Amino acid sequence: MTNSPRRSRATEAFYGRRKGKTLKTPQAEALAAVLPALRLDLGKPAPASLASLWPVPVSRVRLEIGFGGGEHLLHRAQEAPDTGFIGVEPFINSMAKLLTAIDAEGLSNIRLHDDDATQVLDWLPDACLDHIDLLYPDPWPKKKHWKRRFVSAVNLDRFARVLKPGGVFCFASDIDTYVNWTLAHLAVHPQFAWRAEKAADWRTPWSGWPGTRYEAKAIREGRTPCYLEFERLV
Ligand SMILES: C[S@@+](CC[C@H](N)C(=O)[O-])C[C@H]1O[C@@H](n2cnc3c(N)ncnc32)[C@H](O)[C@@H]1O
Repeated sequence: MTNSPRRSRATEAFYGRRKGKTLKTPQAEALAAVLPALRLDLGKPAPASLASLWPVPVSRVRLEIGFGGGEHLLHRAQEAPDTGFIGVEPFINSMAKLLTAIDAEGLSNIRLHDDDATQVLDWLPDACLDHIDLLYPDPWPKKKHWKRRFVSAVNLDRFARVLKPGGVFCFASDIDTYVNWTLAHLAVHPQFAWRAEKAADWRTPWSGWPGTRYEAKAIREGRTPCYLEFERLV
């Protein structure tokens, strides 16, 4: 028997793989050349005016946690050039794919973090975000793993701190136990209200919704997406 200490985790809320297949040359090049310029420097305090993070004027700020293939983030960034986006994704292959697209499209309104989103949430100033997207987060379907889900009391406190009053938290999932889990956590959080008034509100995606890769897979496999929108109360 050994008495070696338990391995400590480097991140609080990321449990997945960081690397998949070997990157193609353009993706490896984008990672080396473009990421350093777009990556947030969490070693320094966040600027008092978050808008100064982008080289273009921005009037709103939006965070997407776990952007995966990046289809949604890219689409939203193209659709709203005067919104500053922060995209977070620890999986290097996904980050490299997005960087290649950002470079090809010449987008200037995206900044990135390639690690656990809790690090960005703790770095951001109070009441600085208009919108947080958490789209198809890792579902952790087994009950013994539910505590790994990104939606938790502590992460909702983080969201409440960084969202502006009136700001929104949008959540999508195809896993009914995760949808119920999220509704139950938000229902007891005093700083959030669920905006739905009728079933169509959680069955219909948001305006301009481009879908995501994970959502397409869920639909192909016969699962039904659910879209929840919560408001950060004043
Ligand atoms: C099921 S995938 C969904 C990806 C994408 N949103 C979509 O709908 O296709 C969940 C993503 O969240 C990322 N992720 C997991 N934990 C995270 C964390 N703590 N911070 C940021 N991203 C995380 C994973 O790397 C993965 O890409």
